[in-house]
Amino acid sequence: MQIKGATALVSGANRGLGRAFAQALLQAGAAKVYAGARDPSRVTDPGVIPVALDITDPNAVIATARECSDVTLLINNAGVMWMSPFIAAPSMEAARDEMMTNYFGTLYMCRAFSPVLGANGGGALVNMLSVVSWFTHPMNGSYCASKAAERALTDGLRLELAEQGTLVVGVYASFIETDMAAVLDVPKTSADAIARSAIEGVANKQYEVFADARSAEIKAALARDADAFYAGLARKS
Ligand SMILES: NC(=O)c1ccc[n+]([C@@H]2O[C@H](COP(=O)([O-])OP(=O)(O)OC[C@H]3O[C@@H](n4cnc5c(N)ncnc54)[C@H](OP(=O)(O)O)[C@@H]3O)[C@@H](O)[C@H]2O)c1
Repeated sequence: MQIKGATALVSGANRGLGRAFAQALLQAGAAKVYAGARDPSRVTDPGVIPVALDITDPNAVIATARECSDVTLLINNAGVMWMSPFIAAPSMEAARDEMMTNYFGTLYMCRAFSPVLGANGGGALVNMLSVVSWFTHPMNGSYCASKAAERALTDGLRLELAEQGTLVVGVYASFIETDMAAVLDVPKTSADAIARSAIEGVANKQYEVFADARSAEIKAALARDADAFYAGLARKS
């Protein structure tokens, strides 16, 4: 997929990785970048077009797809993570919100924008996934479940949209320097580096992008011996 000249839409583009995606797309030569945000007044970077977008509101998502009918590259970046375990969580609220945003919200976006991408020649649809799309960590189990569901969506869409020529890319990353992982004192990769690596993967028509070194290591460790991987997690938690 050629980024130069593309018309992109990034969800959750007012801060964090989404903001980095929007800037990296402009640097890579995208002709137009819609910056989707729940509060578009918080999109302040020059060069992007702020668009009101709450991905959990299906009617608003459909309206945005009508408004942005020239999109050729969709980046589903918006997401939430409430650091909530399955059993010890005080209620189901976090689990519902994570599934509603990360899975159903992304699905609303994919359903609304797939015809747009198809009408514009195929284009590309990118879902921002995580290493916890592959395994579940006890500290944020319900987030892991939602990112695993989003991975299943990504892999299914790739087959479903092949006929219309849409490239479907899953981007995997470990910890990123954004608000989402701010409470964790662990090594992280900058949002700029993740965005650049993801866009390079899209340009190279990769189905899966391991956007940092840690994601490639975790993928290999799980393939080698998943039992040993989980035993390591159990020892640390
Ligand atoms: N940070 C990490 O370590 C990490 C690692 C792997 C993958 N990821 C994934 O990377 C993506 C970006 O995360 P981030 O680290 O940039 O998180 P972040 O700093 O918390 O930013 C999340 C963004 O998503 C937006 N958002 C949340 N719910 C939304 C909704 N219903 N509709 C529209 N926008 C919504 C937020 O908007 P508001 O400002 O309105 O809240 C914000 O712009 C997520 O999909 C996340 O799962 C993150």
